Amino acid sequence: MILFGLMFMTFCFKVSISQCNMEPQCQVRQFPNGFSFGTSTSSYQIEGAWDADGKTENIWDHMTHSRPYLIRDGSTGDIADNSYYMYKRDVEMLRELGVDIYRFSLSWTRILPTSFPDKINEAGVEYYNNLINELLMYNIEPVVTVFHWDLPQKLQELGGWANPYIVEWYADYARTVFTLFGDRVKYWITINEPHQVCHYSYGNSFLAPALDIKGVPEYLCAKNLLLAHATAYHIYDQDFRPEQNGKIFISCSAQWYEPLTESDAEAADEANQFEWKQYSHPIFSKTGDFPPAMKKRIAARSAEQGFFRSRLPEFTQDEIECIRGSSDIFGLNHYFSYYVNRNDSVNGYYESPSFNDDLSVFYTLLPEWNLGESDYMKSVPWGFYKLLTEIREEYGNPTVFITENGFPTRGGLDDDVRITYFTEYLSAMLDAMEEGSDVRSYSAWSLMDNFEWSSGFTEKFGLYEVDHNSPLRTRTPRKSAYFMGEIFRTHKLTRCLNNTQTPYL
Ligand code: BGC
Repeated sequence: MILFGLMFMTFCFKVSISQCNMEPQCQVRQFPNGFSFGTSTSSYQIEGAWDADGKTENIWDHMTHSRPYLIRDGSTGDIADNSYYMYKRDVEMLRELGVDIYRFSLSWTRILPTSFPDKINEAGVEYYNNLINELLMYNIEPVVTVFHWDLPQKLQELGGWANPYIVEWYADYARTVFTLFGDRVKYWITINEPHQVCHYSYGNSFLAPALDIKGVPEYLCAKNLLLAHATAYHIYDQDFRPEQNGKIFISCSAQWYEPLTESDAEAADEANQFEWKQYSHPIFSKTGDFPPAMKKRIAARSAEQGFFRSRLPEFTQDEIECIRGSSDIFGLNHYFSYYVNRNDSVNGYYESPSFNDDLSVFYTLLPEWNLGESDYMKSVPWGFYKLLTEIREEYGNPTVFITENGFPTRGGLDDDVRITYFTEYLSAMLDAMEEGSDVRSYSAWSLMDNFEWSSGFTEKFGLYEVDHNSPLRTRTPRKSAYFMGEIFRTHKLTRCLNNTQTPYL
């Protein structure tokens, strides 16, 4: 790791702006050789063409059509960014940005309209072949997410991720796409953000299918999803890797949970265990299985509530072994952090049973973390540093790919807040890397504005603005596109502090 640290060149220079009487201090930091930069998107959020050329309904099509009130502006992804027809412009933008990689996802029902591998939709396959080939023509490495939330509606009606057969259904789909595209795709992400898939979709109504049945299905989903991921990993490892020679991993969303006071250390530790280690502990820890605090707290609450067994299902020893070690890389989506505390008033505060009641902590976001207009997204770069440090220390320093990180605005091309956010987060990431964290790739969310789930088109994460009122879905680079393009091309980050700013740590 010392050698790794020496690969960095960090130097400072001073520029003086006398008329403002400010002396910004600028630090230029170099990313290591081989580090890759890119941007991320997902199929439902950008493709549109929701029923074109044989594609069938997925849970987002179904929910946005049948329950539009669950989306802030009542919108749908029917057309979204129209990328199904505009992929060449998307690749052109990636070239403008100078990326090394592009992370996008496959739509299950565009490839398998029956949900199963009995019928392959040639038009859907052709779309992804065109996109992959266009990327490769310009030396852009495709990083492909097999599943980014758009489950076939038919499988949802059969219980979706709460039905143990999903392990087979998902594995068949994964095998199909490895066969179709694996000659050219060398980086596979099995599943995007398991916690969001299970907690926000089954235990709440923020994401499709918005079941909002708390305390049981979200844990069934967690077990089945981990098994599905691991099964796909082993299929790739045994049947495809010897010839195709790629990497396969899962991308977990992890925010950082910091104790509000010294006496909240246990509460914060348990928040980290419930909120993200629920998925990383089974895969990356030495022992495998769900994290100990989760098992203990849910078993105790379940018994108090009169359940005959813990609402958190158990894994068999074989299942624990199948999941443990089933990811070549730690895929990390990170956005912000919370302070966490616990006191007696939490008892009875959350609906019971529920994930939140099982964990029983309060979350605090500080007003000074506000940046721009988003009401939920904050800027807490030191949390990113702490999270990366925790991953390094807890899991034996796995290779990490940042598969998402970004900040929303409400629109406009002058997005200085996004530039500030990226500067501070990249700087925090470099600090963790200098201390040994093996981060090798960073993808900004997102290439362009897109359908932001329950926020519809109201939250805009794009380096490129997309005009959703124009039939052409015109894309225009924001200030942040130029800023990030410079970093992507030079592999250098320039961070300036003037006398009104303080460093993030
Ligand atoms: C998801 C993206 C989403 C982003 C911003 C992540 O949770 O993977 O699909 O758009 O966050 O909210």
